[in-house]
Amino acid sequence: MKLEQRTIIIIGGGSGIGFGVAKVSLARGANVVLAGRTLEKLEQALVKLEAGKRGLVVQTDITREADVAALFADVPAVDHVVVTAASLAYQPIVSFDIAAAQRAIESKLLGALLVAKHAGPRLREGGSITFTTGVAVERPMPRGSIVGAVNGALNAFIRGAAIELAPIRVNALSPGWVDTELWNLIGGNKAAVFASMAERLPARRIGTPEDLGHAAVFLMENEFTTGTVLHVDGGHRFV
Ligand SMILES: NC(=O)c1ccc[n+]([C@@H]2O[C@H](COP(=O)([O-])OP(=O)(O)OC[C@H]3O[C@@H](n4cnc5c(N)ncnc54)[C@H](OP(=O)(O)O)[C@@H]3O)[C@@H](O)[C@H]2O)c1
Repeated sequence: MKLEQRTIIIIGGGSGIGFGVAKVSLARGANVVLAGRTLEKLEQALVKLEAGKRGLVVQTDITREADVAALFADVPAVDHVVVTAASLAYQPIVSFDIAAAQRAIESKLLGALLVAKHAGPRLREGGSITFTTGVAVERPMPRGSIVGAVNGALNAFIRGAAIELAPIRVNALSPGWVDTELWNLIGGNKAAVFASMAERLPARRIGTPEDLGHAAVFLMENEFTTGTVLHVDGGHRFV
């Protein structure tokens, strides 16, 4: 159990995929620090996870350098970081709100730079950083142009970061469709949209936060994997 008593900071751990990463990590004996903007949500997540003394929360906005610097300065002896945080924008190109597009870029791409900058020099030996990109790079959908572009940039960023921060390993998870709170933002009839996608996918179902949690654990534990985008998408790229 390589994660036994290791400390993992999960930025975005209050919900969705980040919550799934926390759940699977706790089951493997790790200590988790959940970070995000909404303290109440983080505290509720910790209770739901029954983390006890193995869980902590830290209010952090990944777009603010002071927050990110304080997170890594204040939490001692961090082994791994997993980032799922993102403020995304799904809009038609012809009427795109540029401020919303900027928030997506700031949270997901520049946020990754801030994490790499402040976590890189502080992680313990054998440490890793895992970012979250997504299938929108390969399978664009209407209103998802900026999300796909940011994910594609992040796929490129992890390669440079893996070289520069070595021996700290840097990877990315690329989820397909996963049933999380994010879908409240995307809108539409979620049950019908999911059922139709599940039928098309080779895996014949939509992903769960735990599916991604297991993949994140692989990236943290496998000491020979770096600069890699791990696709966990039920085969979505091929349909
Ligand atoms: N779900 C899917 O189908 C899917 C598919 C492909 C890719 N992905 C990617 O997976 C990642 C996670 O998505 P999810 O489905 O788990 O979404 P989610 O449930 O909405 O989780 C995102 C988490 O990030 C936090 N967050 C947002 N902005 C933040 C900021 N500026 N600073 C710190 N924390 C912030 C949110 O909490 P607060 O708002 O309280 O801060 C929230 O807990 C995203 O990058 C998304 O693009 C998801």
